[in-house]
Amino acid sequence: MFNPEVYIERRKTLKDKIKSGLILFPGNEESPMNYTANTFHFRQDSSFLYYFGLDFPGLTALIDVDNDQEIIFGYEFTVDDIVWMGPQKPLAEKAGPAGVKQALPLEKLEEKIKEALNANRQLHYLPQYRHDNIIKLEKLSGIHNSEINKNVSEELIKAVVSQRSYKSGEEVKEIEQALDISYDMNTLAMKMSKPGIYEYEVAGAVVGVANSRNSFSSFPTIFSSQVQVLHGHSHNNLMKEGDLLVLDSGAESPLHYASDITRTYPVSGKFTDIQRDIYNVVFQANTQAIEMMKPGIYFRDVHLHSAKVIADGMKQLGFMKGDTDDAVAAGAHALFFPHGLGHQMGLDVHDMESLGEDYVGYDETVKRSEQFGTAYLRFARKLEPGIVLTVEPGVYFMPELISLWKSQGKFTDFINYEKVEEHIGFTGVRIEDDILTTEDGHRVLGKPIPKTVEEVEEACSG
Ligand code: GLY
Ligand code: MN
Ligand code: MN
Repeated sequence: MFNPEVYIERRKTLKDKIKSGLILFPGNEESPMNYTANTFHFRQDSSFLYYFGLDFPGLTALIDVDNDQEIIFGYEFTVDDIVWMGPQKPLAEKAGPAGVKQALPLEKLEEKIKEALNANRQLHYLPQYRHDNIIKLEKLSGIHNSEINKNVSEELIKAVVSQRSYKSGEEVKEIEQALDISYDMNTLAMKMSKPGIYEYEVAGAVVGVANSRNSFSSFPTIFSSQVQVLHGHSHNNLMKEGDLLVLDSGAESPLHYASDITRTYPVSGKFTDIQRDIYNVVFQANTQAIEMMKPGIYFRDVHLHSAKVIADGMKQLGFMKGDTDDAVAAGAHALFFPHGLGHQMGLDVHDMESLGEDYVGYDETVKRSEQFGTAYLRFARKLEPGIVLTVEPGVYFMPELISLWKSQGKFTDFINYEKVEEHIGFTGVRIEDDILTTEDGHRVLGKPIPKTVEEVEEACSG
């Protein structure tokens, strides 16, 4: 954990932002895989971690803004529990590192909330993504489970986003610890991959790198020769000479800050001519986007610039035609680049996504586009120092999308369907890095992971 003062200070800032009432943070519980005692790996809720740091199940935290009280509610373990779990400290002692002075049994929480609701005091809570916590809140608040996420506190969401969006030096150090693991995950995959082995052999080794560094994946690993499947989690293909592989993976730091890196490389270790050409289009979209990043620039404009680099590059290769600016304004580039350029990253790999993407990435100065492709941009607002974002452009040949658009006669002024169809089966390329916006520009976080064609081929040959 960070020093208790870090958590005390974060809560003090939060209390200053919320006018009155009670703020409830339900911690996460163990999640059963197939029977109660056989659980998935435990992951604490990220906002709970941000304000309290306590990394174990069975907790709920309450901040009483009006009476300046902070309480951790939880279990006191008995000897029956200790038989299975080993020695346990009393709850009050466990809460100490969070700088919380009061620890009470869970039964007291119900009393406290009832009392507050009877006095017509406001109960603030964040959107909930786990069903057991929705039920917990239903019991406490008397609000039906189907209405829990309709009664969230917008005031609290905005306050939390205004804090968690700006990473302190110590948070950036955590992200860089996760990136240190990412370096090893990626270079191992490049070395290990070769024709005749299954994707799961490498995917397992990659996750094993994180586990062997006392870390877990920050999201399910994407590792596949089917690069055009954006979030495909199957690793069942046999690697073949001539295929490209995408590895989109991440690890967690000791305090659960994420990394999120994508590299695309050839199974054989050498790019073919067309693979190199398209790789370099995506490389340019990635590096030029990163170059633009500094305070005051809208990330929407960084996204649109990378879309233009892609459209321009695809034009030079004969896949697109016409005026690049017009093509991007119309959304024709989205045939190849149908997703957003990036997202915030921190305690969540898509940081604060559970609070609502529009709160995190949009504000009164920038509204979400309704155009296919750009509509998926998760973060569009102005860059500010302390914000960490991924930059992850890609070019894909998605057979279903190509045949649909062609049949609809879509963007025939900008897309050379004949040439595109010659390359169905190309799959795709994505390149992703994690970038901190600084006072005067940006910093690519972590030790550089092989990225140019030459660096990637060299790493594959290692
Ligand atoms: N979790 C996949 C990505 O956003 O890169
Ligand atoms: Mn990723
Ligand atoms: Mn990402």
